Order: sequence, then structure tokens, then C-alpha cells
Amino acid sequence: MKNVKIGLIGFGTIGAGVVKILTENAEVIQQRLGASPCIGKIADLDITTERGVRVESGVLTTNVDEVLDDPEIEIVIELIGGYEPARSFVLKAIQNGKHVVTANKALLAKHGEEIFSAADEKGLGIGFEAAVGGAIPIIRSIREAFAANRFSAIEGIVNGTANYILSKMSDEKCDFQTALQEAQEKGYAEADPTFDIEGVDSAHKIAILTRLAYGAPISLEEITVEGITSITPEDIECAGEFGYRIKLLAISKYDGQAIDVRVHPAMIPVGHPMASVNGVLNAIRVCDDLMEENILVGHGAGSLPTGSAVVGDVMEIVRNSLVGAGTRVPAQSFQKTAPIPLKNMDEIESEYFLRFRVKDVPGVLAKISGILGNHSISIESMIQRGRDDNGKGVPLVMMVHRSNEKNVQDALIEIDRLDVVCGKSNLIRVEN
Ligand code: HSE
Repeated sequence: MKNVKIGLIGFGTIGAGVVKILTENAEVIQQRLGASPCIGKIADLDITTERGVRVESGVLTTNVDEVLDDPEIEIVIELIGGYEPARSFVLKAIQNGKHVVTANKALLAKHGEEIFSAADEKGLGIGFEAAVGGAIPIIRSIREAFAANRFSAIEGIVNGTANYILSKMSDEKCDFQTALQEAQEKGYAEADPTFDIEGVDSAHKIAILTRLAYGAPISLEEITVEGITSITPEDIECAGEFGYRIKLLAISKYDGQAIDVRVHPAMIPVGHPMASVNGVLNAIRVCDDLMEENILVGHGAGSLPTGSAVVGDVMEIVRNSLVGAGTRVPAQSFQKTAPIPLKNMDEIESEYFLRFRVKDVPGVLAKISGILGNHSISIESMIQRGRDDNGKGVPLVMMVHRSNEKNVQDALIEIDRLDVVCGKSNLIRVEN
């Protein structure tokens, strides 16, 4: 049986998961593949910390070139994350004729074009199933299972840390900081949790999915990104009273003319299947002209779930290579990608949940509803809670009918200038 030598760069949580899977599931992998993928070298800056997996002597190195320049290594797995030096390592691996498997969504979202064309030129495979949704086979689904479909929307919960925090705040009524700390302790959050809670990690992932689904290269800077740091326990409670859960959604919709791509917290009805996707789980909803809707749910992070996606990609590359199929499926799903215009955020329409903090005095509601009316925004329902005992105002929350984003933003600016409004108002979009 052919041995296929693999080089691993980055021996962290996922790297250890990959080694464990290749060792403990070696028999089933060989039975399915007819070949034996084995780790030839592992490069990491730290080669002394115990990872809980057995590695043969001489395999670990702190010198990444021992992986990149080893002529026997056919596939390089990049698991260090981030833009650089990951980009340089991946490009050098390709230059040296090696296929690449990566879980690095930041890298592909930002430098995807460069990396995919370098690999195409050399006829090499790039596997990145682990980059979006961990164990959820969303890349393979879009590229292969739904290859004939015209997509109209790809959206979902693609950040486990943010979902964990919002779920915990909803179910245990705890505050943001407590929930974030627990997510970090459990190893879900990125090294810098800002990317998770500010929506950047979700933006990386939706950029990748947008490119695959519609064949449109998209630059990260064009995505409207809002995180979950402004969500308060009060928002979550009021959302519940209106029959909604708050989730951080990555949204990419295509109406045949332009793409509407954004990341922000959204209220979804409690009865929606994604409303009950909680904790670190991810869910991705795919809509198209042939199967209408499909929701894939699974573990979006973690050593073995993400490791399984990495090893699955390795096996696909080996399978292609064993039958001389080269890169059977185009990495970016389309033979050629071409730009598609993006919708300006000002143009979108949605229902909205609005939160104000107001002085508890007569006439407040008339002033606020007057401004909303002037901007063609119609109120659907509202709740005012408590009495203003400490002079800090009372929360006033309302749901408004489908409105234009720019009208809502303009109305909020005007409302925040009222002397009866204490502090900045907040909006959460509703996705039904
Ligand atoms: N930090 C990411 C998350 C890990 O929380 O989902 C997987 O990309």
C-alpha cells in the first residue's frame, strides 16, 4: 500500500486532532483510501508541550523549511492561522509542488485569489473544508452536491464562540464577560477573541462561501460587519418577549443582480430551526432554485470535528492523485470567477427591533413615533419597562415593520438628539 507523506505546520488543538485521527482511525482510512497517509514532519515553534498524542522521534521540528523543502512530503497541512506567515508558507509549499490543506479562513478570505491561482497554475489541490463550519461539509456541499444549483442565499451561524456567548446569555441570564471567559477557557475562541465577538471571523467565512456559491470574488473590506458586544441581557430578554432569539448571523443573498453580504446580530423567530442551534454548534442555511432550502448543523470548532474535515481533505487529494484526476473539482467551485456588484447596506430592507433609553415623561412616545413616521417607518409593537427611579431613563423597545436601512439609521440619529433620550439607541435586524 502506498504511503503518502504529509507535513504539518502548526501543532495546536486542531493539529493534535489531525495526528490523533491519522493514528487512531488509520485502519478505516486505509480501507477507504487504498493508501496510507502518514505524518512525515511537524513544524511548530513549541515542540516541547505535551499534546496528548504520540509522535515518532525526529518528526517534530521548529524549522518550517524542513516541511516545505522535504521532497518526500506531498501534502502540507497549514494550521497556524492568521494572514502571515501562513500566506508565505502556503505559497512556498505550492511553489515546491505540494498540495495544501488549510483550516485558515482569514488567509483564504484575504489572499484566496493569490493562493488559488498559484495552486491552479501548478495543478495542485487546495483543501479548505475545515475553514468554514468545522465538521459541517459545507464546502463540499456547495462545490459538489449542489453543483447544478443557482444559489439565492447562504447564511448562518458560523462562529461557535459568539453562538456560545449568546446562548449562555439567553439561557443562563449571565453577562457577556462571564460567557466570553468560559468560551475562551473551553478553547473555542480565536487567540484574539476580538475576531469572534466583533464578527470578523464570521466575515472571513461568509466571504469564502460567497465566492464558492456565486463565483464572485469578494473583498473583506466590502462586507458590513457588526459584532455582538453591544447586545445586552435586556435585548435578549425583550427579544424573547417578542418571540425571537438573538444570533450572530453571516448573511449572503443574491437576487441575480447584486449580492447582499453582511455579518450582524439578528433576531430570528424561536420556531426557526436555527434558533435552537445553541452553544458552540454552527448552522448554515443554503437556499437555491432546485432544493429550496437545506440547513446543515454541526460542530464548528474543536480538535476532532475540525480535524476530521482536514483529514477528509487530505483523503480527497490522495484519491484524486491515485487515479490521476488532478484537481477534479475547481477549488473555487467555478472554472472562472467574475465580480458581481455588491448591494450597498443603505439599500437593504428588514424588520427591526429598536431599543431606546428614554426619560419617563409625557410625550416621549409621540416624539419618537413622529420621527419614525417621518422616515416611513411603521411601528408593529412596543414595550416600555419599569419607572425612571434613578434618572437614568427607562428602556423603550419596539418592533417596526419592514423598512429601509438608511431610513432607520437616519431616524435613530435624529431620535438620539432628542433631550428625552438618554444615551445611544440600538437596532437589531430581524431575519424571518
Ligand atoms: N473561533 C472559531 C469559532 C473557531 O468560535 O467558531 C472555528 O473557526
